[in-house]
Amino acid sequence: MGIKYNETNRIFKLDTPKSTYMFGIVDEENFVGHMYYGRRIKDEDLSYLMRNPSVLPSKSNRDRVNFLDSLPMEYSTHGIGDFRESCLSVKTADGHSACSLSYVSHVIYKGKKVLEGLPATFGNEEECTSLELVCEDKVLKLRIILTYTVFEKLDAITRSVKIINASEEPIYLTKVLTTCVDMDNKEYDMITLYGQWAKERMINRRKITDGKNLINSLRGVSSHQEQPFIAVLDHNAKEEQGEVYGFNLVYSGNFMAQAEITHLDMLRVTLGINPVDFCWKLDKGAAFTAPEAVLVYSSEGIGAMTRTFHDLYRSHLIRGGYKDKKRPILINNWEATYFDFDTDKLLDIAREAKKLGIEMLVMDDGWFGDRKDDNTSLGDWFVNENKLKGGLSYLVQEVNKIGLKFGLWVEPEMVSPDSELFRAHPDWAIQIPGRSGALARNQLVLDISRKEVREGIYESIHKVLSESNIEYVKWDMNRALTDLGSVSLSGDTQGELYHRYVLGMYELQDKLTRDFPHILLENCSSGGGRFDPGMLYYSPQIWTSDNTDAIDRLKIQEGTALIYPLSSMGAHIADCPSHSNGRITPLSTRGYVALAGTFGYELDVTKIPEADRNLIPEQVAMYHKYNDLVREGDYFRIASYQENNEYDCYSVVSKDKKEALVTFIQVSARPGFI
Ligand code: DGJ
Repeated sequence: MGIKYNETNRIFKLDTPKSTYMFGIVDEENFVGHMYYGRRIKDEDLSYLMRNPSVLPSKSNRDRVNFLDSLPMEYSTHGIGDFRESCLSVKTADGHSACSLSYVSHVIYKGKKVLEGLPATFGNEEECTSLELVCEDKVLKLRIILTYTVFEKLDAITRSVKIINASEEPIYLTKVLTTCVDMDNKEYDMITLYGQWAKERMINRRKITDGKNLINSLRGVSSHQEQPFIAVLDHNAKEEQGEVYGFNLVYSGNFMAQAEITHLDMLRVTLGINPVDFCWKLDKGAAFTAPEAVLVYSSEGIGAMTRTFHDLYRSHLIRGGYKDKKRPILINNWEATYFDFDTDKLLDIAREAKKLGIEMLVMDDGWFGDRKDDNTSLGDWFVNENKLKGGLSYLVQEVNKIGLKFGLWVEPEMVSPDSELFRAHPDWAIQIPGRSGALARNQLVLDISRKEVREGIYESIHKVLSESNIEYVKWDMNRALTDLGSVSLSGDTQGELYHRYVLGMYELQDKLTRDFPHILLENCSSGGGRFDPGMLYYSPQIWTSDNTDAIDRLKIQEGTALIYPLSSMGAHIADCPSHSNGRITPLSTRGYVALAGTFGYELDVTKIPEADRNLIPEQVAMYHKYNDLVREGDYFRIASYQENNEYDCYSVVSKDKKEALVTFIQVSARPGFI
């Protein structure tokens, strides 16, 4: 297993337990051509897999045929005759955009290096092997390092790209995708996860048609609408059979993922940062690192792809004290009170919750500044003493005395125009001078690409978290980015803002998790708008959706669990009738559905019917009984409610196969036969 280089054939072979990924160096110009990705194959002379007949080691042949437009490429570049989607494109001082990539050297080593400033999977020397392939564009004096990591026990390979400017002039990177995989077109289908607010991650399976089949986000976040995920699969692939290739970008900003059927009946899959509005000035000697892509291969259907993603993310992406631990059962006051709460109300909820076996109270939006509704005060991270008499420390102490942990909601990346912060620093918001930018939820986005903005905002959040015994943070983000402009960027660097924003947000989350390692962090973006592998690197759980209706949640959780582990899905038992859609669902059903995630409550336990209250201790016991299994086990989709619209069924099986939990929810009844 691992990574091998055959010097005679100049071929790299990357093996996982059941897959092989192979590429080689071709032609006297040392182009890097892709050969094979699929079921594990033996070590043998596989040069013939460079299957295009035009690829002959002769310059004259190359000049006769359209060589670069037919060679399966390992990392395609723009402007030199490969007219399919390219991964790399530049703009030089002279205005040229072409670039080319030739092999220079490589190194293979045990383990995996960190990606500076970016979230990424990790593994030690026993768990993985890495390859760094150093390539160059001689004319531009650009070094391009393609890094691959192979996980020894999982059918997963990761890729990342680093570009270094070794010239004397700045070079502008106008496109840096992470991954390109060229394959033979076999009438594949593709799966993507689309959605909207309150309806995230619906599974969309369709035939890959001629040309470009693109999904993307330009919202500054990975988004409710599309996931940075694409799977390419046999038309006949099912849950337990058929070939499936899953691609996921470890990134939380604008992305593109594309399956392109090209001429010569080939298929090119590309994935990376969305090139729209992206332009990165690479100064002399500077480096740019693109986010990591995860490639998962399964020859045993969609289910095996799912389980590989789950194992990889649980063991090699999610970090922190709660990584492998049961999470405290929380009760969140958002749907119980919205903005209308005070100390007494929260303590009433806490007292009742404690009696029922709940372990943590989370105070959601509305505790700070002058926040009575969602029109004001974001950025003013000091407690509203009118609501919380005695302050935050008093409330936390009282909650702790009751015997509950305390958690807090924050939205650090935002500022309300009506806030002390905005009045003091109007230039801290992302905006274009002279343009009245779009407000969404009446708020603006802070320009956290700037160090002073990050420091200012972090200082105020740090103060709040240090002054009281806060053991959980819900980090929310309730609008997309628009009207992109930063006062700290010049005309030729404004195109860096989207990505610098994401890097700034990662830096803030990194600081928070380092400074407060005991805090359980849950990310959130208007529900599940930021459910992506990048965020999982910082928080072991993410709020899955603002739609808390248990029946709608079945579909949302099914789609989310296609790639993300159950242990990462924020799932609460909410009020009835549902605040999302008015549906009436028994508390027991709501409990079974929430069991598939982190499990918690989001209702006013002081007001629910007595019968429901009496059921909660049973649900709490059920959570304690099954959570180890749910968190650590293998997930099997038995029926898809997204597909059948009638019922849902899935199971979680322990790794030693001694225990299994099967959940079956009948949603709509069929007329019976007599
Ligand atoms: C959006 C979140 O998804 C909700 O759970 C809640 O925290 C609100 N924001 C608060 O404004």
